[in-house]
Amino acid sequence: MDRFHIVGGSPLRGEVKVSGSKNSALPILFSSLLGGGLVIGNVPSLRDIRTAFSLLSQLGIRAQPLSVNPEEHRENSSISSASEEWAGKYRLSEESVSAHEAPYDLVRTMRASVLCLGPLLAKRKRARVSLPGGCLIGARPVDIHLNAFVRMGAKISIDHGYIDAHTSGLSGCDIHLPYPTVTGTENILMAATLARGSTRIFNAAQEPEVSDLAISLNARGARIEGIGTSSLKVTGVENLIEASHTVMSDRIEAGTFLVAGALLGDRLTIHNVDVSCLDSLLITLREMGADFQEDHGSISISRILNPRGTSARTEPYPGFPTDMQAQILPIMAIAEGPSTVVETVFENRFTHVMEMNRMGANIDIHGSRAFVRGGAHLEGASVMASDLRASAGLVLAALIAKGESEIQRVYHIDRGYEKIETKLESIGARIKRIRGEEIS
Ligand code: EPZ
Repeated sequence: MDRFHIVGGSPLRGEVKVSGSKNSALPILFSSLLGGGLVIGNVPSLRDIRTAFSLLSQLGIRAQPLSVNPEEHRENSSISSASEEWAGKYRLSEESVSAHEAPYDLVRTMRASVLCLGPLLAKRKRARVSLPGGCLIGARPVDIHLNAFVRMGAKISIDHGYIDAHTSGLSGCDIHLPYPTVTGTENILMAATLARGSTRIFNAAQEPEVSDLAISLNARGARIEGIGTSSLKVTGVENLIEASHTVMSDRIEAGTFLVAGALLGDRLTIHNVDVSCLDSLLITLREMGADFQEDHGSISISRILNPRGTSARTEPYPGFPTDMQAQILPIMAIAEGPSTVVETVFENRFTHVMEMNRMGANIDIHGSRAFVRGGAHLEGASVMASDLRASAGLVLAALIAKGESEIQRVYHIDRGYEKIETKLESIGARIKRIRGEEIS
């Protein structure tokens, strides 16, 4: 297993470019199961994306890499060698439509595999998908997805750890979500595009990644209205057609670099940022004393000299993202005065706190609340990453800690951050990957 060796304290300066969004690319890749073909660009090169390609290949989808626009390539390489694969572009087409099973081996490594359920059911009328099970950040059931498919006319049973779903044809209906689940909304949206009649989804997730999926589906002939709101209306169509879509930039990667800049920036400029998706994070960082300069998809930030404590409450979009909770803690740990974080989305997403405390942070957890005392002087330590965003939080803590840190199990970070160490090194961080044995 690879680990990172980090020497803290180096200022971060220069320019860095954000990659395509993992959580947008994944549902769009799975939407290729709806047929008609898809050209998708700005796909990040990540472990989760490779898992999605493996699963799609088992399900009869052929992914053909397309050569990238040389202009895009030149533009990227001038900024950072880390962006070589930035413009990952593929044509996805259906080669065979007989397979309908997502096996446990793939689903267990990536919960988002459950996103094949909606499109398989809509297009192939049958899906057998391993139940994802719980994970370190919470129980994460998929009951809301399944109840919606039942309402649309699917017969679903659970046997031997698998969701077995079939239908003679899905029908549109009104679906009121008890919680605005992100992948749940995406799964229903994909299923509804080919369902008979119209489907209305109330209390839908409004995350920008859901909108990106909806925009890509409409480009392929789907009829989705209300994009970006909590009420979506989908009028079913017979077939989709091939169209091209560029995946939005990754707002969580952008947010992670923004916090890095707030901690250590010496005028750090982050490119390929959709600032409109970052409101809640920018508000929180401003409360802590940050100042930004925005310029057409780029944002510059310098270190906050005396960060102030504040509070954050994770919520569905447009609230503060749970995927930024671990990364905001290091700055709260060193801020003047106390801070609090309330985690409302996942029940167990504080596993990084014990590790940050081993580095000198002073954070107490009471249920879903983290009380951060502030004023800490972090020191390097050997720590263990436990999930993707926890790893990013620990990397940020190590970057400001005095001395050397080792972050174990960085395979988590490889799931969601494209070449993070190369990008950080290119802006001045002292970070090295130490190769270990490959894990499956
Ligand atoms: C998506 O997960 C993201 N994953 C997560 O990103 C992100 O943290 C999360 O949304 C919240 O923003 C992808 O987009 C691939 P949810 P998802 O369904 O869709 C409960 C990362 O680090 N729930 O909105 O699985 C659930 O248990 C990852 O990139 C049910 O109870 O999240 C949780 O408490 C991690 N029943 C809450 O809703 C259901 O059927 C929100 O989950 C579905 C969800």
